[in-house]
Amino acid sequence: MNDLEDLLQRNSNWATSRKNEDPEFFVANAKQQKPKYCWIGCSDSRVSPSQILDLPPGNIFVHRNIANQVSVNDINCLSVLEYAIYFLEVKHIIVCGHTGCGGVESAFNKPSSEYINPWIENILQISIDYESDLNSLSCRAERSNRLSELNVLTQIANLGNLSLVKDAWTKNTDLSLHGWIYNLSDGVLHDLTGAISSLSDLTVIRSLCAHQIRSN
Ligand code: CO
Repeated sequence: MNDLEDLLQRNSNWATSRKNEDPEFFVANAKQQKPKYCWIGCSDSRVSPSQILDLPPGNIFVHRNIANQVSVNDINCLSVLEYAIYFLEVKHIIVCGHTGCGGVESAFNKPSSEYINPWIENILQISIDYESDLNSLSCRAERSNRLSELNVLTQIANLGNLSLVKDAWTKNTDLSLHGWIYNLSDGVLHDLTGAISSLSDLTVIRSLCAHQIRSN
């Protein structure tokens, strides 16, 4: 069996077992999606949201890119957010970074590549903004993981400052933002920010960026 045949066989086995567990599952799933959560995560193959959250299909609306970034210039991310907030009416948007993130570490490596370099420009800037914080950490893995945290916090601030989100809050929409980190070494998620449900809640990001949240 080649790699692709293996994938199709895995899918067939999964669909059969899902149907055996719940004969109505695909009937209900095909009718509509009503997820409560929107996930903005890294493209890393080890941080697959439905898998690490142990959720079946239909529970989480997902956008992934290198190093889980939210940019006002990224129409891909913005269209996902618009659909999630105004059509699906999700209650929570989670920005999830992870330890050992290659995209984040590229701020230290500075690879020479056509598309990755401009994409990680923002992370490079975060590493410059928090240079003294990062340099106070003794080993490279600690610096990398702290930069992953600072990146998540920055992306939550970016998210909260989007008009899509500010308008939802102005209309008293029940919508909260959450910054998380997934630890690759033990599979456990850490909540960095708590729930951020208003523009004034966003001020917590500044103090979280100013202090090391936890030692890795
Ligand atoms: Co990553």
